[in-house]
Amino acid sequence: LAGIFAYLNYRVPRTRKEIFDTLVKGLQRLEYRGYDSAGVGVDGPRKNDNGDNVNICLIKKRGKVKALDEELYKNDSIDLDIELDTHFGIAHTRWATHGEPNAVNCHPHRSDKNNEFVVIHNGIITNYKELRKYLKSKGYKFESETDTEVIPKLIKYVYDNSENDYVSFSTLVERVIQQLEGAFALVFKSIHFPGEAIATRRGSPLLIGVRSKYELSMEQIPIQYNSTGETLIVIYLQDDDIAAVAEGKLSLHRMSRCAGEDPNRAIQTLQMELQQIMKGNFKAFMQKEIFEQPESVFNTMRGRICFDTNTVVLGGLKDHLKEIRRCRRLILIGCGTSFHAGVATRQILEELTELPVMVELASDFLDRITPVFRDDVCFFISQSGETADTLMTLRYCQGRGALTVGVTNTVGSSISRETDCGVHINAGPEIGVASTKAYTSQFVALTMFGLMMSEDRISLQKRRLEIINGLRMLPGLIKEVLTLDDQIRSIASELYQQRSLLVMGRGYNYATCMEGALKIKEITYMHSEGILAGELKHGPLALIDKHMPVIMIIMKDACYTKCHNALQQVTARQGRPIILCCQDDPEITKNAYKTIELPQTVDCLQGVLSVIPLQLMSFHLAVLRGYDVDCPRNLAKSVTVE
Ligand code: G6P
Repeated sequence: LAGIFAYLNYRVPRTRKEIFDTLVKGLQRLEYRGYDSAGVGVDGPRKNDNGDNVNICLIKKRGKVKALDEELYKNDSIDLDIELDTHFGIAHTRWATHGEPNAVNCHPHRSDKNNEFVVIHNGIITNYKELRKYLKSKGYKFESETDTEVIPKLIKYVYDNSENDYVSFSTLVERVIQQLEGAFALVFKSIHFPGEAIATRRGSPLLIGVRSKYELSMEQIPIQYNSTGETLIVIYLQDDDIAAVAEGKLSLHRMSRCAGEDPNRAIQTLQMELQQIMKGNFKAFMQKEIFEQPESVFNTMRGRICFDTNTVVLGGLKDHLKEIRRCRRLILIGCGTSFHAGVATRQILEELTELPVMVELASDFLDRITPVFRDDVCFFISQSGETADTLMTLRYCQGRGALTVGVTNTVGSSISRETDCGVHINAGPEIGVASTKAYTSQFVALTMFGLMMSEDRISLQKRRLEIINGLRMLPGLIKEVLTLDDQIRSIASELYQQRSLLVMGRGYNYATCMEGALKIKEITYMHSEGILAGELKHGPLALIDKHMPVIMIIMKDACYTKCHNALQQVTARQGRPIILCCQDDPEITKNAYKTIELPQTVDCLQGVLSVIPLQLMSFHLAVLRGYDVDCPRNLAKSVTVE
């Protein structure tokens, strides 16, 4: 969950202050991932006869990046204005797994008191106990409780025991990672290799950005330029790649190259426009992202639905459509919010594809060693495209010969690269840990897949047209729902001191209940449960009394009468329900404590509208309770460990 960032300037003079600023900014970009401490490693003041810096200075701090930033300027032995022609700095945000959050457990970790080798790590080393025991037997003394500390100790051990003095830094790293089990993205720095940088990964994502005024000479990498002029290019490392920079030259080594593998790394222009990730006038990224949904949902459909001809084409799937149509079942797999997007669209996919559809939590699917067959089609839904549980399940299904389809928001992510085909949801970067716009875009993308599958089914044409028309109107209706913000804030101000909040509904809106409850849990730390109204009498009814806050979703669809019954069961027990309902429904209004009235759309799309008031509600509750909306405690945006 940690974030790692490193910055090397080669023959581009930078003051130490500029270097600190760059490292701190890099860490700030990673803050969304959730962390509890941060640290940097930079060249220290001491130099040898060649003028190379020969010591490394580590500065680490528990708490926010801001606290680290302040710490950097407290150290008087460091001259901030000195210009460094070439320098390599590393930086890290840590989310405690092994050992409590404190400065010692914080990265960079070091080989010894002289900081000969220092390392930053994202991921988890599963065989660290064995390595630690071995290194201890060789006399190494450990200072932290982390799994990571074995890595700098191991590289020093390999260095001290190497056959001669000419073993390169990257060879040392190669030897080290051969001994590591688990997941990692690593960056190494060493006083023995001044100005050199080594980065490598397995399981955890890592990418390299290069900016140069000159033509880049990267001899060992065949470069494919996608753009011209001075641009930032990005290289996605693959598992076990080792990237080394020495004398300003970047080279990539593969540990084991399989026959027939394409050595080319596509180098891509960084697509994310900087302004897109700025918060603008909003209090939090999450709030901004909620309000972006008219556009993000539109962007998911852009260029894919032709409203003149009523056709839907998902470019990433069209070549596989025949195969998908012949399959025995669809399996939708994800975690958290992405799982809920599967729940939300299951019914419409069953209707439009006429196939059995399973919706599965990735971790549970693996726990069950669920049977998967060659004629299954498995969808991996993941905003980040990096969630470890989902990625592991993808590999599991691939191993059993199923066709794998990615539904992600992140071009170049592990899931988008490893699946056979897929859909990018194009919602734009999502920074708030609690997912909002990614959910509605996943919802729309999966619905579009159903529409594409049913194109030739004559019996389904009327239904398809109704849904396509509904999608056309959707961004406008989302805007209308967002105007309820003030009303929702005032309801939140009545609720925020409660301990618990139930959210009830069924049919097409059941997913909204689960997703709404998840939002509330994640950022308000209130207990919240999404309850299927059909299950009410089988247990949850016992929770209802006049003190228990209940939100009910009752839309004009096939479940209306059944939901109405549930409402009566709640009011009969003095429950005071806040009801999300359609505009002009006096029957509901008279039984409600409060109503939030939503515009009506096609039944299978209603969930896109009904989730928004709950996103807003959770946001206002969290603000009223005084919590950091974008970085909830104990959670991370991208969970890259199982
Ligand atoms: C984490 C996040 C959730 C997210 C889930 C799945 O738990 O905190 O907000 O829904 O991962 O993430 P993904 O990137 O795979 O959609």
